[in-house]
Parts: sequence; structure tokens; C-alpha cells
Amino acid sequence: MANTILIGAQWGDEGKGKIIDVLTEEADIVVRTQGGNNAGHTVFIGAQKYVLHLIPSGILRPRKKCVIANGVVIDPIALVEEIDGLKKLGVKAANNLFISETAHVVLPYHRDIDAQREVRKGQQKIGTTKRGIGPAYADKMARTGLRMIDLIAPDRFEALLRDRLKENNEVLKALGAKPLSFKSVHASYRAAGDRLRPYVTNTVVMLNEAIRRGQNLLFEGAQGTFLDIDHGTYPFVTSSNTTAGGACTGSGVPPHRMDRVVGVMKAYTTRVGEGPLPTESQDIADMLHAMGREFGATTGRPRRCGWFDAVATRHACMVNGVDDLAITNIDGLDTVQTIRVCIAYRVGGATYDHVPNNAQLLAQCQPVYADFPGWLTPTGKATTWKALPSRTRQYLKALAELSGAQLLIASVGPARDQTIVVRK
Ligand code: IMP
Repeated sequence: MANTILIGAQWGDEGKGKIIDVLTEEADIVVRTQGGNNAGHTVFIGAQKYVLHLIPSGILRPRKKCVIANGVVIDPIALVEEIDGLKKLGVKAANNLFISETAHVVLPYHRDIDAQREVRKGQQKIGTTKRGIGPAYADKMARTGLRMIDLIAPDRFEALLRDRLKENNEVLKALGAKPLSFKSVHASYRAAGDRLRPYVTNTVVMLNEAIRRGQNLLFEGAQGTFLDIDHGTYPFVTSSNTTAGGACTGSGVPPHRMDRVVGVMKAYTTRVGEGPLPTESQDIADMLHAMGREFGATTGRPRRCGWFDAVATRHACMVNGVDDLAITNIDGLDTVQTIRVCIAYRVGGATYDHVPNNAQLLAQCQPVYADFPGWLTPTGKATTWKALPSRTRQYLKALAELSGAQLLIASVGPARDQTIVVRK
């Protein structure tokens, strides 16, 4: 399989969890390189549903090693809960999970600051997951963060936490929130640190040695291109590099060791949280929500929905260097008479064939649509390319062509066997 980076080519929730699960079959190690437990990757195996937040979904396949690499921010208490939750479902992390010693730790004040800032922003809020992701990355950049290597060293952790809590309690008070008690934060984090110590290691050396031995690595992206801190619809973004470059800095694996990039996109568009979404349509949202689809895996929030935006996916394929595409949720459009695809934006007499950097301008953009006839046939049972209705094939080919990458996988439902590999 070679070393593959998998990214979301839209606003997150593209169905990456399922595609990663499928590609994991050929991988030796699956690596998470950014984000935190703001992510929610859903995988169905038979009737069992698994939702993973921090642990790579490779954990669901026996003997696959899973790495939470240096670029991730880890809420240790949430991670322990995730390990325990998987154990209850019969999935053991014990020998297969490796956590970077330089990954940063999300602390309770990060969550509280995240929540308070959202309240203070009012109408201008970002709509974060309130998991403390932004403030944790801000501390990392300000060089005031705590890392896993600190968490598992009891004396150092105690001293560092005391120091950080003093400062952050002042911040919390200034924001109108309650200060935190050292005793309770220390006790719960100490306990989580003790539980996680056996997993913590130098994952940079581990991954590079694995590559030297010829092993195949799969880099599991979280969130999506337009939530990237540099390339997304700032400030309505998350705080990490969700684009392909983030896989290198977030893991310590050099760029020339990466062999290909797979971009995952839905056959339509969704977004959770605030910020521009040019093709947003309440009709599509109502239709998909009525089907029980498009509710957030982490927060349960109904997702905003719209037509496929080829301006956005073309931009995503450019920024990420996407080679292969996986198009998911095709079955979501099974009942639509006429399917629209945005091929350009128009605003104030100007036409755009790329995504403008100004989020306010993007919010004013009107989509220029091309219409495709719907296939009006259930696709969920198709297991080969040829078994798909010809109108579905035409639609998917058009999406790939407009986005500028080759179609690799077509996904017609959440199960493993609802996956059509279009090209070997
Ligand atoms: P944060 O990452 O919690 O700071 O949230 C920032 C923005 O990213 C918000 O609009 C969230 O809804 C969005 N976001 C964060 N994680 C995900 C995800 O896994 N899927 C989709 N949207 C996400």
C-alpha cells in the first residue's frame, strides 16, 4: 500500500473513519497526527457501531499498531475512557496502542476557556466542540503547554500543573468562570497518567524504524481541509493543520517518505459549527435529517447540509496534493430528482473558480450550479462499479473530474461491504 495520508476534503465528517477502516487492511500502522477528541470517527462492523475520538480506527483490526502521534492534543481522561469503552466491546488496546511522549495534554482549564470564549463571542461564536482544543494548541505555541512526557513524571507534573493552574485560574476569573482546584485536577490527571504510562513512547523513532523495515503506514486525518488553521475558513476553523502537510509535522515522518494522498469527500456537503457554507440548503438538510443522517458523532448536533461544492473540493485537492478520491454517502442522494453541483462562485459581478480567503466574502458567494439527473434507485446494495446505476457513475465521474483527482473508492453505506473499489 505504501505510506498513505488520508485527509478530509470538505468541512470534516466526510466518512473518513470508514475509509480508514477499509484501507487499514493493507496497513501495518495507523497514525493520528492532529486534532484531539473533537473528532468522532464512526465505524460499523456488522451491527456493532464504534465511535472513536482519539484512538485511530485501526484498533478495530487485530494486530494493527495504532499511534497517537506528537501533533495530537490528548485529553488523558477522555483517552482512558475510550480505552475502557473499547475494552467493554471486546477491543483491546494493550499491545497495539502507542502514544507520543511529546503530544500535548488538554487540561480542564482549556475546556473552560474554550467554553467561556464561545459565550463571550455571542453571535460571532465559532461553534467549537468545547473540548478545549483551541486553548490547548495555543498553549503549545506559547510554549506553556504540558506534554505526555510531563504527565507521566509525577513530580514534574505536580510542579508544572501548580504553576500553570495559578496563571490559568487568573484567566478563568477574568473571563467570568470559576477557578479550578489544584487538588481535584491533580488527582484525576495523576490517575490518568498512571493508566497511560505503559503506552507512552518515542513514536517518531518507532515510525521511522518501521518505514526502514518496509512497513506500510496509514496517516488518519481528522476534521477537514476547510477547518485547517492555515487553509480553512478562518476564524471558523479548528486549531490544527488538517491538510496533508500536518501528517508530516504531526508524526515526524519526512515528506519524501509519503507516497500518496487519499482525499475523502461526501457526494454532497456538510458542516458542523458556524462559518460560511456557500452551497447550504435547508431542503437537503431536512431530507437528510429525516433519513436519520447527518448528526455529529461527537456532539450530536445536526449538521448543516448543502449540494456538492466542486470549487471547494478542487481547492482541497490542490492544497493536499490528492491523488485518489473516496466519495462517500452516495446513497444519501438516492431519492433526489435533480442533483446540483457548484462549479463556480459569483459575488458582486465577479466569478470565482477558487475559494476566497476572506470568510466574509465567501459567506456572500452565490453558487453557480450544474445540474445532474438523479438515479432514483437505491444504491446501498451495489458491490461493484458496474452494479451502480449509470447516472450514479456519471455523477461520480463528474465529481472526480471537477475536483481534479482519480476516483478510487465509492461508498454506498456505512458497512465495510458497502464499499466499491473502483480502481485497484
Ligand atoms: P474545535 O475543533 O472544537 O475548536 O471546533 C472548531 C470548529 O471545527 C467547529 O466548527 C467544530 O464544529 C469543527 N470541528 C471540530 N472537529 C470536528 C470534526 O471532527 N468534524 C467536523 N467538524 C469539526
